[in-house]
Amino acid sequence: MDRITASFEGGVLNGVVQVPGDKSISHRAVMLGAIAEGTTSISGFLAGEDCLSTIRIFSQLGVGIERNGTDVSVKSPGILKWKDPVNPLDAGNSGTTARLLLGILAGSPVTAQISGDRYLCKRPMRRVTTPLTEMGGSFSADNDSGTLPITVTGTTLKSMHYEMPIASAQVKSAVLFAGFSAQGTTVVTEKAVSRDHTERMLQQFGANLLGEGNSVSIEGGQTLKACAVKVPGDISSAAFFMCAAAMVSGSAITFKDVGLNPTRTGIIDVLKEMGAKVTVEQKVEGEGEPYGTLTVEAANLHAVEISGALIPRLIDELPVIALLATQAEGVTIIKDAEELRVKETDRIEAVCSELQKLGAIIEPTPDGMRITGPTKLTGATLNSHGDHRLGMMAAIASLVTEGSVQIEDASCINVSYPGFFDHLNSLTQIETLME
Ligand code: S3P
Repeated sequence: MDRITASFEGGVLNGVVQVPGDKSISHRAVMLGAIAEGTTSISGFLAGEDCLSTIRIFSQLGVGIERNGTDVSVKSPGILKWKDPVNPLDAGNSGTTARLLLGILAGSPVTAQISGDRYLCKRPMRRVTTPLTEMGGSFSADNDSGTLPITVTGTTLKSMHYEMPIASAQVKSAVLFAGFSAQGTTVVTEKAVSRDHTERMLQQFGANLLGEGNSVSIEGGQTLKACAVKVPGDISSAAFFMCAAAMVSGSAITFKDVGLNPTRTGIIDVLKEMGAKVTVEQKVEGEGEPYGTLTVEAANLHAVEISGALIPRLIDELPVIALLATQAEGVTIIKDAEELRVKETDRIEAVCSELQKLGAIIEPTPDGMRITGPTKLTGATLNSHGDHRLGMMAAIASLVTEGSVQIEDASCINVSYPGFFDHLNSLTQIETLME
């Protein structure tokens, strides 16, 4: 399914949807299950391309992983008994897999080369190898571009206090994983708090962590206990249909069992601020991640400013928020989001150039975008740039365009949302054409 035509001539979106499991949490469940000795069982796992890359990699290290749909069992001899892999470890398109793995392998007994697809091999890795090298980590590469492929030789690490220059959960997690194997206490301090799934899950697996303000510390030399992990639905996937419900007049969509971790719910804050009706029912909070049921209803939307500490809480949602802003009254400003330039693609340039093809009034800025609305959009051919979130943004755009939207290179949507078009079809009760 590489070219898709999406069209929607009027009508509303209605229904209940259970989006696939959270990508960030699915990766970490396999990783921590692989570090712990024993059998970890995961339910609600995201069987998307990125998380399948993580499963393949840990299998190569000698961990027994079996998957039956969204149920995964991870049977591990423990990190100290992992084997050197025969072949390079291929993280595919997944930055989370590559960066967290660099932190995990740095203090493991393993030597391995980590590689990825042509997009991932262009993304910066120094943001993790720099602090990890300070901890004593050993990395080598054929060139000095600071990108994959990189060979890690596991060694004894020392602790550090790392003051993060950027808000990145991947960097924070890589340093915490290294700190888990290091001698002494490792502290990570963030300027703005990024998603805390690693911290929560380490605790769920029995590790001791101490959080204070924007800092978290972990003592090295602890052991993890295998356990059962429930992965809630991914709010970053739900965000596409949350925005669709908000902007297509008369629509209402309910999301069941969706993750409601406060470090991820910036999209709810923004939708409410823009005027959409968002109701959270049945929030479940216990061990592990909070989740619940959420309903979004359409309303007249107005522009907002999105900046500062809110950015890490909705970083992956910004492409679809930019689309939403084209339908809101006024000028929406997104700033402090320069991290978008080093995602699966440069999401500032790609979002602006694709939405401009539909007639949107949107301009890139060095650290974000400026969008003027409301604008009547017209169908056109858009390209995903090999980026799953751009592909889904294009499909959701078809709900507000006059005429259809063709999406080129749409198969990348499977990276995070297998079944996306089935959900789109059932919520709109219209068949999307796949060529
Ligand atoms: C992720 C962290 C974020 C996010 C990515 C997943 C994670 O990246 O954009 O999709 O699972 O830790 P950064 O850490 O680069 O901000």
